[in-house]
Amino acid sequence: MSIHLPVLNGVRPVDTIPPDPLVDLQARRIRYLRVSVTDRCNYRCSYCMPEDLGRELAFAPRSAVLTFEELERLITTFARLGVRKVRLTGGEPTVRRGIVELVGRVRAIPGIEQVVMTTNGHLLAELAGPLAAAGLSGLNVSVDTLAPERFASLTGRGDLGKVLAGIDAAIACGIPVKTNAVALRGVNESELAALCEDAWRRGAVPRFIEHMPMSEGQLYATDSELPAAEIRSRLEAAFGPLSARASAGRDAGPARYWAVADGREVGIISAMTEHFCDDCNRLRLTATGALHACLGHDDAVSLREVLRSGGSDDDVVRAIAGAVVGKRAGHEFQRSGAGGPAKHMIGIGG
Ligand code: 5AD
Ligand code: SF4
Repeated sequence: MSIHLPVLNGVRPVDTIPPDPLVDLQARRIRYLRVSVTDRCNYRCSYCMPEDLGRELAFAPRSAVLTFEELERLITTFARLGVRKVRLTGGEPTVRRGIVELVGRVRAIPGIEQVVMTTNGHLLAELAGPLAAAGLSGLNVSVDTLAPERFASLTGRGDLGKVLAGIDAAIACGIPVKTNAVALRGVNESELAALCEDAWRRGAVPRFIEHMPMSEGQLYATDSELPAAEIRSRLEAAFGPLSARASAGRDAGPARYWAVADGREVGIISAMTEHFCDDCNRLRLTATGALHACLGHDDAVSLREVLRSGGSDDDVVRAIAGAVVGKRAGHEFQRSGAGGPAKHMIGIGG
C-alpha cells in the first residue's frame, strides 16, 4: 500500500487577534481540546494502523514531539481563551512516559475543568489508580469485540483480558468509563447487543462509532460500513425501542446517547451518515504540535514552530485564531471512502 505522510497545510496566523479567538465563522465556540501526546501505539488496529502501515509510517522523532512544558504553555493559553475540557489521545497516550504526571499538570491549569483520556486500555489495570489520583475525570476505552481471538487479530497485538481488567480497575477507582467499538459489518455486527451488555455489567457506557475513511480512505471498505440507523435497529431488535437522550451540554463530545427501556444508555458516533459538524466545539493538537481545526481535513498550523521560533503568547493566539477562522463548516467524508483526509487516525487520535 502506498501511504502519504500527514500533510501540514499552512493555515496562516491572523494579523490581528479577534475579540474572541475561539469563536469561528459559523459562530461555533471551541471549549474542548483534544491533545495527542504520542503518535506511537502498542496496538495495530486494522482500521487505524495495521502492521503494514505501521512499518511504512515514520514515527515522529522524540525531538519533534512537544515537551510537557510546551504542552502546559499551549494548554494554558487555550484555557485562557475558553477551553474547559482536554482529552489526551494518541496513538496510545499511556505509552508516553510520564503520562500520569502530565494528567496532573494539565488538571492544575486554571480554567481546565475536565481532563479525560482515550486509550486502548492495555496498560490501564496498572495505571488506573495513579490516573485517578492525578485527577483524570473520564476514560474512553476501545473494545471492538468480546471474542478474544477476534480481538487479538483486529488489534494486531491486543489482549482482551488485560483491557477488560483495565476497565474494571478504572471503574473501581471511580473513573467513569465509556467503551468505543468501531462498528464493522462482517466483524462485530453480531456482537452489538453483547458489547452493550458487557459494558453495562461493568458499569461502563457502551458506544459505537461509524468507520471513517482516514488515510485517504485506504483502510476503508464500503462493504464494512455499518450506518448509525442500522446500529440502532440492531439494538432495538435486542433491547426494544430506544429513546433519544438530551445532549450532555456545551462540553459534550460527538456521541448521541440513547436509552433502552430500563434507562441504560448507549452512545452512537455517526460521523458519516448523520454528521454533527454544526455543533462541533473541538480543536485537535497533534503530538508534534500541529493544530487541526477539523478531523476530516488536513489543514493545520504548527504551534510548535511558533513556540520554537521564540513566539510570544500573542503569537500563539494569532496562530490559534488562524486555525479557528479557517475551521471548515464540515468534513467531506463520502460514503464511497473518497473525500477523506490524507492524515492517519494514529496521528490525530480520533
Ligand atoms: N474510524 C472510526 N473510528 C476509528 N478509530 C480509529 N480509527 C478509526 C476510524 N478509521 C477509533 C478507535 C478509538 C477512537 C478514538 O477512534 O477505535 O476508539
Ligand atoms: Fe492504537 Fe487506538 Fe489506533 Fe488501535 S485504534 S492502533 S489502539 S491508536
